[in-house]
Amino acid sequence: MYYEFYCPVKIVSGDNAIFNLPNELNRLKAKKPLIVTDEGVKKSGIIDSLIKMAFDESKKPMPLIFNNIPVESSTKAVENLLSFFKQNDCDSIVAVGGGSVIDSSKALNMLIAENKDSLKELAGVDIIKNRGVPFVVIPTTAGTGSEVTSVAVIFNEDSNSKMAFASSLLMPDVAIIDPASTQTLPKKLTASSGIDALSHAIEAYISIQSNPISRALAFESVKTIWENLPAAVKDKENRQARENMLNASVIAGMAFSNSMVGIVHSLAHSAGSVLHIPHGVAVSLFLVAGVKENADASAKELSELLNAVAYMNEYRGTTKQRAERFIYFLEKFVNQIKEEAHLPLTLNDVGFEEEQEDKIIKLAVRDGSSIFSKVTLTKERAKNMINAAKI
Ligand SMILES: [Fe+2]
Repeated sequence: MYYEFYCPVKIVSGDNAIFNLPNELNRLKAKKPLIVTDEGVKKSGIIDSLIKMAFDESKKPMPLIFNNIPVESSTKAVENLLSFFKQNDCDSIVAVGGGSVIDSSKALNMLIAENKDSLKELAGVDIIKNRGVPFVVIPTTAGTGSEVTSVAVIFNEDSNSKMAFASSLLMPDVAIIDPASTQTLPKKLTASSGIDALSHAIEAYISIQSNPISRALAFESVKTIWENLPAAVKDKENRQARENMLNASVIAGMAFSNSMVGIVHSLAHSAGSVLHIPHGVAVSLFLVAGVKENADASAKELSELLNAVAYMNEYRGTTKQRAERFIYFLEKFVNQIKEEAHLPLTLNDVGFEEEQEDKIIKLAVRDGSSIFSKVTLTKERAKNMINAAKI
């Protein structure tokens, strides 16, 4: 079997890891970094307390802050970010936030690297040819894994759809993983981003592109999420559970960046665009339905994942029975997390209307996420998944 695995991102993880930020920037020869974030993160105090303390301690000036990134990363926001970066002669990027902030920062770095003003001509796989400026990421949600992936998704206001960018040149130089950065995360976001990470791990594990390294990472991620997400959702003071979830999200990110995701993400992207719901919420609506569609084609892989989530007395049975058992546990797990965090349980809970169905299906079958899925995302299959997400 031939495969490639690539992850050049340095991981700095653990208590007080944030205090390494000035040193890491120094190592990267960054003189004038720009902190990219959103209002929610800015209000949480991570930047004004922890990051400021880190710069004070190292006797370095506090960097400039751009905090106008919207909840859903957009082409306009990235263009504004680029003007701010240029106007202030910045030379490096520190993204502090969730998926939208990290993807917007990747998009900024793409524009700088390619010396362009607009993202439209850079969409697609391996279009960019140059590496950008020094780039450090501090994720404030445990889910997207974007701090270690080669992909970015940006909403295009003109076409009302999501544009995807993929290149190993998009990967940050350093990811700083500190449990203090997720402490103020609302319960709903802990839950939905945790389910997103779970989906990355499962979809990477069953992808045609999966390989021994990505499977090892994905398996460990599923196991860690199973053991820690319920506790992280229940009690945000549980520092150990939050730290474990951050690490699980990073390793799921490494796995899917090298093996890709699948049909769950195709539906999540299309429903996300049409219904304007956060990515994690969209994933949480389609995860079980998408895995059920893979029950036969990926029975072997799903039966292996049972070992990550159940006690030994559950291991008996044929491959098919064990795969079905895994799906049974998965459904129970996802529903419990959704109920505990009061997340939307069905498509109807997020304002879905029947006339939106065709648009969601049309965008889903065109979405590039399922190129490496064992099962083809036909219109019928997308419809099945939508029907399942209604109940
Ligand atoms: Fe995702």
